Amino acid sequence: MRIPTAAAAFLLIFAGAWQFPEVSADSSLRDGDRIEARVAALVERMTVEEKIGQMSQVQAAVGHIPDELRAAVAAGRVGSILNEVDVEVVNELQRIAVEDSRLGIPLMMGRDVIHGFRTITPIPLGQAATFNPDLVRQGARMAALEAASTGVNWTFAPMIDISRDARWGRIAESFGEDPYLTGVLGAAMVRGFQGDDFSQTGNIAACAKHFAGYGASESGRDYNTTNIPENELRNVYLPPFKAAIDAGVATLMTSFSDLDGVPASGNRFLLKQVLRDEWQFDGFVVSDWASIEQMSIHGFTANDREAAFEAASAGLNMEMATSTYRENLPGLLESGRIDMEQIDAMVADILRVKIRLGLFEDPYTDPAEFPAIANEDHLATAEQLALQSLVLLENRGGALPLARDEIGSLAVIGPLADDPYEQLGTWIFDGDPSLSQTPLQAIREFLGDGVKVTHVRAMETSRSRTTDGFEEAVKAAKESDVVVAFLGEESILSGETHSRADIGLPGNQAELLAALRGAGKPVIAVFQAGRPLTLANILDNVDALLFAWHPGTMGGPAIADVLFGVESPSGKLPATFPLMVGQEPIYYNQKNTGRPATPEDFTHMDDLPARMPQSSWGFASFHLDAGFKPLYEFGYGLSYASFAYSDIEASPSEAALGETVTVKALIHNTGAVEAEEVVQLYVRDLVGNVTRPVRELKGFQRVRLKPGERREVAFTLGPDDLSFYGRDMKPVTEAGEFHAWIGGSSAAELRAVFTLTAAPDGSE
Ligand code: BGC
Repeated sequence: MRIPTAAAAFLLIFAGAWQFPEVSADSSLRDGDRIEARVAALVERMTVEEKIGQMSQVQAAVGHIPDELRAAVAAGRVGSILNEVDVEVVNELQRIAVEDSRLGIPLMMGRDVIHGFRTITPIPLGQAATFNPDLVRQGARMAALEAASTGVNWTFAPMIDISRDARWGRIAESFGEDPYLTGVLGAAMVRGFQGDDFSQTGNIAACAKHFAGYGASESGRDYNTTNIPENELRNVYLPPFKAAIDAGVATLMTSFSDLDGVPASGNRFLLKQVLRDEWQFDGFVVSDWASIEQMSIHGFTANDREAAFEAASAGLNMEMATSTYRENLPGLLESGRIDMEQIDAMVADILRVKIRLGLFEDPYTDPAEFPAIANEDHLATAEQLALQSLVLLENRGGALPLARDEIGSLAVIGPLADDPYEQLGTWIFDGDPSLSQTPLQAIREFLGDGVKVTHVRAMETSRSRTTDGFEEAVKAAKESDVVVAFLGEESILSGETHSRADIGLPGNQAELLAALRGAGKPVIAVFQAGRPLTLANILDNVDALLFAWHPGTMGGPAIADVLFGVESPSGKLPATFPLMVGQEPIYYNQKNTGRPATPEDFTHMDDLPARMPQSSWGFASFHLDAGFKPLYEFGYGLSYASFAYSDIEASPSEAALGETVTVKALIHNTGAVEAEEVVQLYVRDLVGNVTRPVRELKGFQRVRLKPGERREVAFTLGPDDLSFYGRDMKPVTEAGEFHAWIGGSSAAELRAVFTLTAAPDGSE
């Protein structure tokens, strides 16, 4: 609820609860209406300069406080600082803000804590492969504790941009292509960072980013234009943000991109209509780095003044890094183009979050109050996340797991076998590579002295183009029983700005695999990468392929456990792996088109008759060279067990609109080992007032089954689960037929059918 400032101040005074907000230590003053009253009382006392100060975030000098920054904070000209993680400097900055500034408003101390702080968990795309929200929550909680121990009270995560194009480097930071999975995991991460009551020690404010549509950057080139029709925006790109808001996320960050010609940082439709009017968000929004200023480079505004005007008019609360607000809002206020009420509301949003965070009561950080960095629990969480993120893509002839007792010697090859830094992935400002346990270390430790392990790096980096190291690698392969090749992309090849147009294995790695194949020994490939890769060209040269993303600090032990069968792999793909890069953007929840392809329609161009008559072939939606299927579909991942699904049932098979339908199936571990499986539910709404995807993920559950064990897995679908944004851009659940599949990937074939019927009087 937003109470007008004067009314709220009156309420507070009337209630006899007045005290200077900045000195209150009563945490009940963080509840509901009281917060509004505190906010209003503060805003009323603020000068224009102090208000604009709250709306300004500045870059830290890192490790020290220059006089200029000291003076700005003391004058109330700074609301937030980013990138300072020296706790003494942070405490001194807070002291200046609290003791030396007129109103004593503490600072938001922001930092990109994206997947861990010092202890690094898998990249978010890898975390998404766990399909395990509780584990993702624990990872964020651990990161929050480590970050908060240095005074950071705000992270710029989770990144919940739907990413349907593996060329985009920032897919690594995302939870992949699916709106439901992204929403569930984004909400889990928010809960992990913020806790139940985010004023408690160790809980930090989260920031859902980038609002909105950034993942649709054309051709996967970073910062590029996006073209997203409103219906698609509402059905695909916005739901994760709504889920984060429902989970209580304190802040949002705008996107660098423009949306339908209007850059996100000045986009009134996004920031006002959707965020405030429809969703009633009462936290605050920060720009991305210089994204207000960049609206002029987009060609949307003529200069900084107009950029500040557009951003402020859209309600963007805080400017990151640049100073268009500081320099232009006073003039815009004076000229009457922006009014004070507007500014007050934006400042109130920021103060509300600061109060909720408990910053006024306790702005300082005592590292002694926190558990040790990288303690056993943290490492265990990082290891579990890494373990459950591993996706087994190929396993011919049961090449994995390796039987420890039968192996006398092992060749461990490749640039990513023993590189403590590269396994951490992108966005690890504070990650500590000295904590990393590499695959080579873990394999050696697991096998002990009895097994000869020969390590040959073979290539300087994943991009190397020489073959200098190949001979030594092949020699080691020939002299060993099994080859394990650690290849992929090093961390610099994904993340911000680092998009690729060719997403195959970089450098000479495919050639290295071919050379290793020539040694005649089983070849197990373990790939680390920040994105799905095109892998069709190397599959003949591997017996098994384990995809490890960038697994983080504890990647080594997690990988070793899976290689040697201590645990069965259980990760599932959160993003489609294309057969060829030209299929991008590619995603499972596509529309059907009027001419969907079937295997019968498709003839590869190499098999077309030599002299084709002037006519088309197949009349269906495919590529003549790539066909119409990916290499590995969303949700795919093998196990050392095998799972059989049966007895699917939707009940009731006919339900009235508004009623709940339960879909259940039996899952049976028909393999020889205990293992976990991610059971997935997909639904198709056959007819809609706008066309519906061929399948949509609507639920998932991780189950652990012993050999021979059977379990019934049930999902309930309420009206909201079956709703979508229709032609009028409003949510609707429509009567009609639905198909539901339960299985181990988005290609699941076990299907049930149910129907929703309109109420007898025809009303919906
Ligand atoms: C990125 C954001 C990040 C910010 C602060 C920007 O370049 O797009 O995701 O939070 O920098 O580091």
